[in-house]
Amino acid sequence: MTTNPKGTALITGASSGIGAIYADRLAHRGFDLILVARGQESLNRVARDITQATGRTITTVRADLGNKDDLRMIETMLRSDPSITMLVNNAGVGAVEPLLESDVEDMERMIALNVTALTRLVYAAAPSFVSRGRGTIINLASALAIAPELFNGVYGATKAYVLALTLSLHKELAGKHLQVQAVLPGAVATQFWEVAGGSLDHLPEHIVMRPDNTVDAALAGLDMGELVTLPSLPNAGDWEAYEAARQTLIPQLSRSEPASRYHTVALAS
Ligand SMILES: NC(=O)c1ccc[n+]([C@@H]2O[C@H](COP(=O)([O-])OP(=O)(O)OC[C@H]3O[C@@H](n4cnc5c(N)ncnc54)[C@H](OP(=O)(O)O)[C@@H]3O)[C@@H](O)[C@H]2O)c1
Repeated sequence: MTTNPKGTALITGASSGIGAIYADRLAHRGFDLILVARGQESLNRVARDITQATGRTITTVRADLGNKDDLRMIETMLRSDPSITMLVNNAGVGAVEPLLESDVEDMERMIALNVTALTRLVYAAAPSFVSRGRGTIINLASALAIAPELFNGVYGATKAYVLALTLSLHKELAGKHLQVQAVLPGAVATQFWEVAGGSLDHLPEHIVMRPDNTVDAALAGLDMGELVTLPSLPNAGDWEAYEAARQTLIPQLSRSEPASRYHTVALAS
């Protein structure tokens, strides 16, 4: 058996939408694939089409990442399969209702998938990649990570978490030959909107991107070494200015004295 020099990409939520396009594009880039989702038939269909087109080795794994046992199974694969060189943490769900009109049980399930599962898979993949001397972790966040006012607030908060985790991971992994990336798409034309209880028909066409264009842009960002990729943002300088403002704040955020504008209030109380 010859070893694939590219290794294997494990993609969660690969049965449809953005994850299925990642599967196609990464297979065309020479990766073998492990495709994870709940829908076995859809996974089989994605795998069959890509195998026919690329001849790559593709394994499908039926797993509900909101289920502890299924999640542990995927963690074990990441830890024990030395061929895995890439994790695409893509599985995620949304909700269209405003925060206070959404069911808190649904929100907890969203957090379990978008936050807990993604985190546990990072904890499984990152040390394994470090010990293997290479690896890439792509985390699907959303533009709503920095614009939570525009949509369901819990969804935006889960994606803000994904962005924060990725920034922190990047810092901790410096010099360890790993690449990490947070991808922040705007609206993308996938079944995400119907699954979330809404419809793409309510969105103006000019703000909705096709999933193939989204993934191609995200992979171009990965090739450029970007830590954060915003596929829609026309001017990269706008993100750089936002990030520069954040960096200016960082050394000032923890001090022994309250800021002078609070002195009067603090003394009066
Ligand atoms: N579409 C957008 O506008 C948009 C914008 C920004 C970011 N995103 C993010 O992009 C990612 C992919 O979304 P998408 O647009 O491609 O939506 P999608 O077509 O609905 O894909 C979601 C994928 O996640 C899987 N999934 C859902 N629940 C799961 C669970 N409990 N366990 C395992 N897999 C599960 C689904 O497969 P099964 O149902 O077969 O399990 C499916 O493969 C998500 O993280 C989403 O938040 C989407």
